[in-house]
Amino acid sequence: MPAPAPAARMALPITPRSSADAPAPRAESLYRSDVQFSTLGEIRRAGLAALDPDVADFLESGSGAELTLRANRAAFARRTIVPRPMHATASPDTSTSFLGIPLAAPILTAPFGGDALFHRDGHLAVARANAAHGIASIVPEAGSFSLEAIAEAAPAAARILQLHPIDPVEHVVGMSRRARRAGYGALCVTVDCPVGGWRTRNRENRFDPDLRHFAGNLDETGTIGVAELFGRLLDVDGARWDWARLREVAAEFELPWIAKGVLGADAAEQAIAAGASAIVVSNHGGRQLDHAPASLDVLPEVAEAVAGRVPIALDSGVRTGADVLLALALGADVVVLGRLTAYGLAAGGQHGVARTLELLTDELRTTMALAGVERLADLDARFVGGRPA
Ligand SMILES: Cc1cc2nc3c(=O)[nH]c(=O)nc-3n(C[C@H](O)[C@H](O)[C@H](O)COP(=O)(O)O)c2cc1C
Repeated sequence: MPAPAPAARMALPITPRSSADAPAPRAESLYRSDVQFSTLGEIRRAGLAALDPDVADFLESGSGAELTLRANRAAFARRTIVPRPMHATASPDTSTSFLGIPLAAPILTAPFGGDALFHRDGHLAVARANAAHGIASIVPEAGSFSLEAIAEAAPAAARILQLHPIDPVEHVVGMSRRARRAGYGALCVTVDCPVGGWRTRNRENRFDPDLRHFAGNLDETGTIGVAELFGRLLDVDGARWDWARLREVAAEFELPWIAKGVLGADAAEQAIAAGASAIVVSNHGGRQLDHAPASLDVLPEVAEAVAGRVPIALDSGVRTGADVLLALALGADVVVLGRLTAYGLAAGGQHGVARTLELLTDELRTTMALAGVERLADLDARFVGGRPA
């Protein structure tokens, strides 16, 4: 009797191993372009392992008792995705656009300052990875490289420049002009940072990074140097802008602008009245006001108030493809990735960010197929169950 044919083996797309078993790649291999991570969790572990402990804390930590930092993840965990079984779909399509910027996936990368602390190429590497993936960067004002250098590294990705709305006004308007000259299509004004958050872990670590990592746009010969900007951001007693002031200054931008840091219907109304062309529902990744609500929890209320007048982005706590689907189903048009991008950067520079984007997009496509969704535009609250806060 002939021996039975060996059972057909399913080809697995990734090396099967439990994430608990997966050792973080050794330090000497972290920057090699051939390191192939198979989950976002592996990238996070490798990225954090590559950093000095106080830099890892600067990246990971939130403000105060870190309640908002944890609330961001808890808000995603409380929600369920209600699938449409046997809904015939062929190929989940993740493409979309935001403020006229075409995107291969509903993702922007967040502005995070001090990027060269995570990898020597910082936001240059992020922009290059984004361009290859077909998404856009929000480039930080307090980053390690100038907005012009990032645009030169990847003009297709460097599309939005983040700014802090603080005096001197000539600096803010001057930055907007530089952005327009360098080909940026929009500005992103951070409205939740009247003063820097109470960063408990940084204080305990006596964290004192070289300010040059934050000075890419803040040359001491310009209107404001990095030490002065940080001095103002950390001084609780300085004068602050209000919506009226922002509206007045924004009239000089000659570019559309996005309000980043909206956490309720009232703030959304104020932002639109001040002229914002889009909003980012965000609590700054739990790094500013502790006890602020989770972004995901306030998203439905904001989406209802905005009622399609401007597009909505969401950040704070997005870590998986399922998170992206939940955010879009609850009213966001795109998500913004802070720490996920930085983990990729620390784990492998441009290649680490590229792999992060690839894995997140693949995970989103798998989640769409499982949920019975072919196009992002089909997502709505009917796909979401579980408890809001
Ligand atoms: C290390 C680090 C630095 C950041 N710097 C800035 C900044 O300079 N300006 C800003 O508007 N947001 C900044 N953010 C906040 C991010 O833009 C974004 O809102 C947040 O990271 C989103 O949450 P997530 O990290 O959970 O994705 C920073 C975040 C991190 C982690």
